[in-house]
Amino acid sequence: MTVTLITGANKGIGFETARQLLALDHTVYIGARDAERGEKAAATFGARFVQLDVTDDASVNGALATIGSAEGRLDVLVHNAGVLGHGDIDGPKALRVFDTNAVGIVRVTEASLPLLRESSNPTVVTVSSSAGSFWAVNNPDRPESGLPLTLYSASKAAATMLTVQYAKSQPGIKFNAVEPGPTATDMTAEFGIGRSPEESAGVVVRFATLDADGPTGTLQDETGELPW
Ligand SMILES: NC(=O)c1ccc[n+]([C@@H]2O[C@H](COP(=O)([O-])OP(=O)(O)OC[C@H]3O[C@@H](n4cnc5c(N)ncnc54)[C@H](OP(=O)(O)O)[C@@H]3O)[C@@H](O)[C@H]2O)c1
Repeated sequence: MTVTLITGANKGIGFETARQLLALDHTVYIGARDAERGEKAAATFGARFVQLDVTDDASVNGALATIGSAEGRLDVLVHNAGVLGHGDIDGPKALRVFDTNAVGIVRVTEASLPLLRESSNPTVVTVSSSAGSFWAVNNPDRPESGLPLTLYSASKAAATMLTVQYAKSQPGIKFNAVEPGPTATDMTAEFGIGRSPEESAGVVVRFATLDADGPTGTLQDETGELPW
């Protein structure tokens, strides 16, 4: 059985990714910062739950220790937890957005590396965003060029760069970033945009189920590789 951890999987794209990977016979750990929400989500389709707040070192280390004791390895890690942080900008909000969307990736990756190294086909997927792509935000033909999401875009640029840097420093592990596509979730609810989480999770699942000779160090959406 493939052992998979998804952060922020109690709802939205992470929840749907968990559901689809479980249907592919993965042993899925739903990471959620809130125990009640996480346990309820896991119980919906028989996944496992680990308390995991990506902004809290003790929580992250505890979650990976639980998986290590139970499974002895981690095959697939999906960095999905994220916040939008739109509206007025100040230092505390910037710290929160970067802590969740970028530093959280560092925390969870570092805690996961020993278990990923025990896998025969370790794969890490970062649910990033084309809003963090220089190419997309400077291209007037792309919707990202009109998005007033300063902190989100900057933190997702960091998330994507972390992905490519980890791909370089950890050649035995695949690291890819994905843009799932505009999706109707709580994150986007007030904008009224997006397709279903079921559809967007398909992109994440594709990169979570790569063969050993699959790509690494890329940013992709459902149409293929995106310029950065
Ligand atoms: N929706 C889109 O159009 C879109 C497009 C491109 C990329 N994305 C990315 O897709 C990912 C999932 O977003 P979504 O649209 O599914 O949004 P969502 O429904 O708001 O889900 C976000 C998830 O992240 C969790 N989370 C937030 N802060 C956390 C923390 N500190 N520790 C652990 N979990 C935390 C949330 O948990 P709580 O329930 O506890 O808040 C929730 O489970 C995000 O990384 C987002 O940036 C989304």
